[in-house]
Amino acid sequence: MAQPADRALRERAARVIPGGMYGHQSVAALPDGYPQYFTRAEGPWLWDTDGNLLLDLMCAYGPQLFGYGNAEIDRAYIEQMASGDAMTGPAPLIVDLAETLVAMVSHADWAMFCKNGSDATTMALMVARAHTGKTGIVRARGAYHGSQPWSNPRAGGIAPGDQAGQHICEYNSVASLEAAVATAGKDIAAIFAAPYRHDVFVDQASPAPEYAKRARELADETGALLIIDEVRAGFRIARDSSWSAIGVAPDLSCWGKCIANGHPISALLGSEKMRAAATRIYATGSYWFAAAAMAASLKTLELIRETDYLERIIAMGDRLRTGLDKQAAKHGFTLRQSGPVQMPQILFDNDPDMRLGYHWSARMVKHGVYVHPWHNMFLSAAMTDTNIDFALDAAEESFRELAAAASGLGPNERYPGPRKG
Ligand SMILES: Cc1ncc(COP(=O)(O)O)c(C=O)c1O
Repeated sequence: MAQPADRALRERAARVIPGGMYGHQSVAALPDGYPQYFTRAEGPWLWDTDGNLLLDLMCAYGPQLFGYGNAEIDRAYIEQMASGDAMTGPAPLIVDLAETLVAMVSHADWAMFCKNGSDATTMALMVARAHTGKTGIVRARGAYHGSQPWSNPRAGGIAPGDQAGQHICEYNSVASLEAAVATAGKDIAAIFAAPYRHDVFVDQASPAPEYAKRARELADETGALLIIDEVRAGFRIARDSSWSAIGVAPDLSCWGKCIANGHPISALLGSEKMRAAATRIYATGSYWFAAAAMAASLKTLELIRETDYLERIIAMGDRLRTGLDKQAAKHGFTLRQSGPVQMPQILFDNDPDMRLGYHWSARMVKHGVYVHPWHNMFLSAAMTDTNIDFALDAAEESFRELAAAASGLGPNERYPGPRKG
């Protein structure tokens, strides 16, 4: 795959962008051959700057639920842009959108809007502190809640006080959840929960019902709020909040990424009990009230309610998972596929520095399928069975090439290793 344009851009970027690129879309920790830049996207497809076509199993790290450039959603966005976007006050559809989310998400009685998932999780923390008058939080090791200092997973630029008062438990361990709550003692404002364990680098895990239920009980016993961070998984697990299926309702839930199919908006939803505290916090942003993304969100939510998108992405995810397992076995590998099939994590067994996973992923990209070696992926409703066949054809070839190369692969210097905190 020729990439001269990508290379030239990286050279220019190295001079004017720190590190050449930053954040989760930097390809620095990915195998060679991953394009850094893209010029076009449509449906399930991406074109890199060199014109190479890729089936995108990352969906922009989640936002694309109905595919790039969904005509109905983008029409709603463009029409609203033409009549007013970031104005001196919100458009009426902020009320429509709040009513819509309150009607769709069973625990919610009110909604507030912002831009990024990090805004929503930070606002949730503020509401919890305003409601309880306490500061501490309990959260699971390795769970990501955004890049702001209170939850940033790296050390650079973070002061010790930024993450003070945090009590860490192991996801799905009732005993460690109880221990973290006990350590927090009286100073506990919130228990943060991920819908399922979707940490990077590791196998994913469904929430154990007893863990989710105990989190609810402990919140009630201590007066803390239970917050579910739906930013990544919201509406890819259920058309309601993700723990609705196991009968656990949070007090607050944080939404982002796919709620407007890639247009910038996120939301904090809360139940009645927290309304007064939510009224007391000062939370705002220059673009938080912009109307076009709200119009896009209303259309996205309509498609969530009225189409079989969820059943389709689950069926496609099932086919992909079963097909990959069979192919891997045929070529002498064992995959560890985890997480919901519509948000697959694909790791290789017996691959401590991920050299097998990196090599296979690089071959997949070479054969036209953008996969990720250590982050969960996402299926979108723009995909079809033909796309899944395309991915499986690429995978067959990639497993064959990996089998030929595996014994000669050296240590994987690029694998950054699992996160500690
Ligand atoms: C679970 C979760 N919470 C919060 C965030 C932060 O969202 P954003 O990057 O939009 O600020 C993310 C982003 O990946 C996420 O996956």
